[in-house]
Amino acid sequence: MSNHVENGFSNESQKFFNLKEMPHIVKPLDRNQKIQPDILHVIGNTPLVKLSKIPKDEGIECDIYAKCEFLNPGGSVKDRIAYRMVLDAESKGILVPGKSVIVEPTSGNTGIGLALASAVKGYRCIIVLPEKMSDEKVNTLLALGAEIIRTPTEAASVDPDSNIMVAHRLAKEIPNAVILDQYNNPCNPLAHYDSTAEEILWSLDDSVDMVVIGAGTSGTVSGVGNKIKERCPHCVVVAVDPLGSILAVPDELNQTDVSYYEVEGIGYDFLPKSLDRSVIDRWVKSDDVGALRMARRLIRDEGLLCGGSSGAAMWGALQAAKGLKAGQKCVVLLPDNIRNYMTKFISDQWMEARGFKDVAKNDKISWWNSIVTEEIVQPAHSIPHTASPTEALATLRKTRAPLLTVTNDKGNIVGIFTADYARRRLANLAGSTAEGLDKFTVKKYYSVDLAKENTLGQVSRLLDISPFVVVVKTDSSNNIQRPAGVITSEDLLLYTSERNGH
Ligand SMILES: Cc1ncc(COP(=O)(O)O)c(C=O)c1O
Repeated sequence: MSNHVENGFSNESQKFFNLKEMPHIVKPLDRNQKIQPDILHVIGNTPLVKLSKIPKDEGIECDIYAKCEFLNPGGSVKDRIAYRMVLDAESKGILVPGKSVIVEPTSGNTGIGLALASAVKGYRCIIVLPEKMSDEKVNTLLALGAEIIRTPTEAASVDPDSNIMVAHRLAKEIPNAVILDQYNNPCNPLAHYDSTAEEILWSLDDSVDMVVIGAGTSGTVSGVGNKIKERCPHCVVVAVDPLGSILAVPDELNQTDVSYYEVEGIGYDFLPKSLDRSVIDRWVKSDDVGALRMARRLIRDEGLLCGGSSGAAMWGALQAAKGLKAGQKCVVLLPDNIRNYMTKFISDQWMEARGFKDVAKNDKISWWNSIVTEEIVQPAHSIPHTASPTEALATLRKTRAPLLTVTNDKGNIVGIFTADYARRRLANLAGSTAEGLDKFTVKKYYSVDLAKENTLGQVSRLLDISPFVVVVKTDSSNNIQRPAGVITSEDLLLYTSERNGH
């Protein structure tokens, strides 16, 4: 048997390598930054990386460069503004370490940036974020010592239950609370005007033809856009806004049936003060499927471990850069890190559950490609949305089912009730079952539709990430989605083994 491993290195002798005599690759060392005083000083100076595969595959002639904001210490571009807002407030005596309490409504990444600054500087930090935002962000925040309040995703920004309104209410109640307010704080765009834009200009010797940036608070695109226009007036500033948001102009671009989108961090239902529409030359609207598939391509084809809004920005860049010629330079900003989405768009099952990816056929498993029929469905009791949580609990106990479906007056399913969700809500939000059933109704759940020819393979993939799959049946005459029941792993196993005669 050969004692050589495949790469040609011998393992004959047990002696350690002669490292000194080997060919060396030593990168120039940055002599100015031997030691950083703390992690906050590491924020910024992110790399600008030339993309090699995706632009070529898409027939783009110009050079596309990725500004890798996901490499910031907290994992996102928002570290910059969080630190800048903290420094500014400290210099004005608004924030006092050890005394002030930072409270902020955010989609998570500004929260992580603030929690990072709070951990280093010694602030109590309370982050208010919608349910939509990933558990990965929540766990990162908790690890950094932040306290978390989660608010309903569907609450509009002016709704008393929205993260913005809840944060402002909390700030009034908590002594020494300070809201740094990324939506109205000039330090948000200023951080990008002073740092992100300067870095891009420095990297490309002040020669940039296009920048493409996703818009949330819009501090990034407004700050970068303003500085770049001063130094490269011909540069085209492109903002990417998801369908379902109203930031783009002209308003016709915002006309859509989409009321919910999965991509986190971009889009709003109001115009933040941190948005300077006058500096944006062009808006591109993105959708979930394009954005999330592109984020996965950035990871797989370019090795850039980024998040979903990075995919939206890249997708927008491919639309906007079509007209650029060879030699021109387009910068696309990648705001956050894969870490935030490990159980979300990184997961094949999660993508399949939302129809963003097809479930592969599998001819080796006899039942995999069979269509879901009523035979396999375990009935689940339905309760009207007007029932009380106490009634729901009693019904759950009586039926011994894993869940109840909740329906509106027309019989349309509006969500599900599970003991697990009810317990988590009570444990996390200090509410009580005296609140309406709506507060205990899970609006996002995994489902298949009997009217849509879903396969048992699809059900099995969903059961990989959820203890049950809700079954609905859409009535094509009126589009009402009625609950049909539930499928658990047990149901699937019993059904398939009975059919196989085992
Ligand atoms: C993941 C992600 N992408 C994009 C953005 C948008 O950045 P900005 O708020 O500067 O528009 C954010 C903001 O929170 C974000 O978290």
